[in-house]
Amino acid sequence: MLYRFPQGFKIGATGAGWQMEGEFGKKEGHEHFPHLMHEMDGANWFQGVGPEVASDHYRRFREDIPLFRQAGILQYRFNLDWTRFIDDFEKATVNEEEARHYDEYIDCLIENGIEPVLCLEHWELPAELFKKYDGYASRHVVDLYVEYAKQAFRRYGNKVKTWFCFNEPIVIPQLCLLDGSWWPKLHEPKRAFLWMHHKVMATALAIRAFRELHMDGRIGTILNPSYVVPRDPDDPGDARAAQVADAFYWGSFVDPAVKGEYPAVYLDILEKEGCLFDLTEEDRAILKENTVDVLGINYYQPMRVKVKETPVDRSGPFHPSWYFDNYDMPGKRMNPFRGWEIYPRSLYDIGMRIKNEYGNIDWIVSESGMGVQNEQKYKDENGRIQDDYRIEFIAEHLAWLSKAVEDGSNCHGYWLFASIDNCSPYNAFKNRYGLVEVDREQGLKRRLKKSADWYRSVAETNSFTFKEVDDK
Ligand code: BG6
Repeated sequence: MLYRFPQGFKIGATGAGWQMEGEFGKKEGHEHFPHLMHEMDGANWFQGVGPEVASDHYRRFREDIPLFRQAGILQYRFNLDWTRFIDDFEKATVNEEEARHYDEYIDCLIENGIEPVLCLEHWELPAELFKKYDGYASRHVVDLYVEYAKQAFRRYGNKVKTWFCFNEPIVIPQLCLLDGSWWPKLHEPKRAFLWMHHKVMATALAIRAFRELHMDGRIGTILNPSYVVPRDPDDPGDARAAQVADAFYWGSFVDPAVKGEYPAVYLDILEKEGCLFDLTEEDRAILKENTVDVLGINYYQPMRVKVKETPVDRSGPFHPSWYFDNYDMPGKRMNPFRGWEIYPRSLYDIGMRIKNEYGNIDWIVSESGMGVQNEQKYKDENGRIQDDYRIEFIAEHLAWLSKAVEDGSNCHGYWLFASIDNCSPYNAFKNRYGLVEVDREQGLKRRLKKSADWYRSVAETNSFTFKEVDDK
């Protein structure tokens, strides 16, 4: 069957600065948070590898960007690194040398026919601000972030017309401070929800600054809201469990970004559990007045839940999972390497939800992708990775997305994670995501994978052929 996207829909890709660039050109003492995570807990990163060299994209971008174009990438979301771009975090003085690097980077994208889309943070909170102020727990750090954002708007606003404040702002507070999965592996809910709230405020305040500066363009934020699916939607227990999970893992960021307010369920539970942050009238007004123009949704897998069946230990720190259990659905399709479910239909459901519940705001699939281990084994006799599984994965997601667009959802793009193989948090180079291979056995040599050709054909025609999808 032929799937066709309307004119204006763009195929693109993404890559996180710190996961690709390597730490070249950085000044002593200007580490970012992921660097700190590796420094403190490197033994638990795959093969001990961290972001120091990553894909060496900082030095090789002139070689990489033409490859991105060959892979069909028409829009590219990259991010500035706060710790590189700013010299003095308190005064927000720009590091001219690094700013010039990003000038050249943006020019290179444009010269290659790729529209640059700029994100201001993919977790690169300066380590110094983490140590000194406990990062986003401090409102002062929110102010510093906004000053950094203003400098970026001023510097690149003439060339960049689509901006995002954060990529996945929930991840660091959730995994590091709430779930205890990533360094510093804490279970401190009050602190975690304060961080989250301050990142929500930082988004609204950066949007306000963008508008006050009369920037020509649009601004939004990139979220990874969990698409929550109850085991049995007709079962009241499962439905209530899903409502709470949705409030914590979808509504907590999507609602303030688009509607300018938090879901009531979220605030009620945080209050009941003694974890509510100070939400002043002034802050409520800032949220209401500074919602996004465009929303980026990163989607990898659904979150399946059921009524709470396991016992809750209320003597320990609060966790949202006190209100639901994860549901391990028998027969679900898995990406065995990443341990994530493959369920492309969510893109249709997300599209419909944004249409029906969020004013049909302009949105983009800002990340979607498949990480695969040991991809070398799929090389053909010419050394090219034949990643048909990735083609199938993307096609199926695009097929569901095209149905959503056909049914009126205002989605204008699909960006693959990732342009090029890169260093994942903790998993480092275990699972490969790129359209472009980075061969670590051969001096980081680049080669286009088979998926790159297919992706280019989709980008050129805004259409592709694939089987008819259903939700079985
Ligand atoms: C997204 C992040 O959530 O998932 C990326 O924005 C990340 O930074 C990607 O790399 C894939 O996850 P992982 O852990 O396999 O790299």
